[in-house]
Amino acid sequence: MKFSELNFAEAPRILVPPPGPRSREALAMQGIYETDVISYAKAIPLAFKEGRGATIEDFDGNVYIDFFGGAGVLNVGHCNPEVLEAVREQERKLIHALDFPTKPRLELAKKLFQIAPGSMRNNAKIVFGGPTGSDAVEAAVKLAKLCTGRRGLLAFQGGYHGMTSGALSLSSGKKLKEHFVPLLPEVHFAPYAYCYRCVFGKEYPDCGLQCARYIEHLLDDPHSGIVDPAAIIVEPIQGEGGSIVPPDEYIRELARICTDHSVPLIVDEIQTGLGRTGKMFACEHSNTTPDIMTLSKAIGGIGYPLSACICRKELDKWSRGAHIGTFRGHCVAMAAGLAALNFMEKNDLPRYATELGRHMLTQLQALKEESKHIGDVRGKGLMIGIEFVRDSRTKKAAEDIAQEVRKRCYMKGLIVELGGHYSNVVRFLPPLVLTEELADKGLVLFCEAVKDTERNLR
Ligand SMILES: Cc1ncc(COP(=O)(O)O)c(C=O)c1O
Repeated sequence: MKFSELNFAEAPRILVPPPGPRSREALAMQGIYETDVISYAKAIPLAFKEGRGATIEDFDGNVYIDFFGGAGVLNVGHCNPEVLEAVREQERKLIHALDFPTKPRLELAKKLFQIAPGSMRNNAKIVFGGPTGSDAVEAAVKLAKLCTGRRGLLAFQGGYHGMTSGALSLSSGKKLKEHFVPLLPEVHFAPYAYCYRCVFGKEYPDCGLQCARYIEHLLDDPHSGIVDPAAIIVEPIQGEGGSIVPPDEYIRELARICTDHSVPLIVDEIQTGLGRTGKMFACEHSNTTPDIMTLSKAIGGIGYPLSACICRKELDKWSRGAHIGTFRGHCVAMAAGLAALNFMEKNDLPRYATELGRHMLTQLQALKEESKHIGDVRGKGLMIGIEFVRDSRTKKAAEDIAQEVRKRCYMKGLIVELGGHYSNVVRFLPPLVLTEELADKGLVLFCEAVKDTERNLR
C-alpha cells in the first residue's frame, strides 16, 4: 500500500482562517457541557470531523497535516483501512469479554511476546490494563512493590507517567500536582539526561554520564536520604518533558545500576513504543531489557483505548485478581492493535520512521542555523522536539514563542503540540505513515511559522 493513498490528497487545505465558524461554534458548545478541564482544544481551538493517515479535516473543511498524531497514538495513521477491516470483523463477533480468553486477546498477547525487547522476548508475562496508559503505570508500580516488598519509587525530572494518583506521583510537573499533594509517599525525582540543560553543567561525553553516577550515588550512599526504592521508572526518551533524547548508553547504564542494586527498572514505553523512535521499543536503542515495561497509546491500533504492563517472567508475582477491572482487554482494541502491529511489520515502519526522521532533523538543523530562537533540535525516528529560547546563549526558555509558532502552524494547515519543562518545545509525533512529500510540506509551513513569529518579535 502506498502511504500517500491513506491521506486526504488535498492536504494542507485552508478554506477559512482557523478556527472557522463551525469550529468556534462546536468549541462554544463544548464549553457549555464540559468542564474547563479540557486541554488540547484550548491550545488548538479546532473541532475535527475526519482523519485519514497523517491528515485531518476540521468542521469547516480545512485539512491539516497532522504532526501531532493524537499525542503518539496514531502510529499507523488515522483510520488506517487495514486496521479498520480487522475492527469491523471483530465488531461483528465479540466486543466485550472481561479477561476471558478470546482470539484477539490470545493473538495480541502472542505477538507482544514475540516482539518484546531483549531477553523479555518469549519470556514475559502480560497484564492487559484499563483504557489508559496511567493504568499500565499503576500496574507496574503495584507489581514492583509486590516483587520487592519496598514502597519508595525513583522517577525523573521532566518525566510524565499519567494522571491517576499513582502515575501523577511519578510525574514531575509541579502545576499538574500542586492541588493534589501529598500523593504516593516516598517518591523522589532525579535529573534526567537532558544534555541541553545539564543540571551538572557538564557536556556529553566528557561528563562521564554524571546523571547516571548521581543515581548510583543515591542508591549507594547510606546518607542519601532515600530508602531503597521498589523501582526506578524511566521514559527511554522523555515525551511530554520535551522529546528529550538521552545518550543511548544512559538507559543501558541505568539498567546496569538497577541490576546491581536489585531495583526493578520500569521502562515506560507508552509514548516511545511500537515503532515511534525507529525501533519497536526505544529501549532497544541501548540494547536494554526492562524488568517491567508499560505500553498504551499506539497499542490500540488506531486510537482504541488499551494498555499493557509486561514483565520479565521471573517477576510475575501477581496473584489472582490483584489488578482487575471491567475493561481490561477490549476485544476490538486488541484486534486493532494486532492489525496495526502486522501493518507495521509488513511495511517496516520502524526503519521508515528512522529514515524520515533523519530527513526531517536535517532540515530542522538547517532552520536552527538561521533562527535566533531555536536553542535545540533533537529527536529519534519520528519523535522530534524543537526547543525555543529567548537567546541561544542564556537558553532562557521562550514559551510565548513556541505558543505563537504552534498557532501560526495551525493557521497554515499544520498541527503541532508543545511540551517541555517550560512548555517551550514544539513537538512532532506524526503518524509513521507520513509521506516524505507531506513531511516536506509540513516543514515548509513550520519554517514559515518560525520566521513569521521571529519577524514579529522585532
Ligand atoms: C510516557 C507516558 N506515560 C504515561 C502516559 C499516560 O497515558 P494516558 O494519558 O493514556 O493515561 C503518557 C501520556 O502522555 C506518557 O506519555
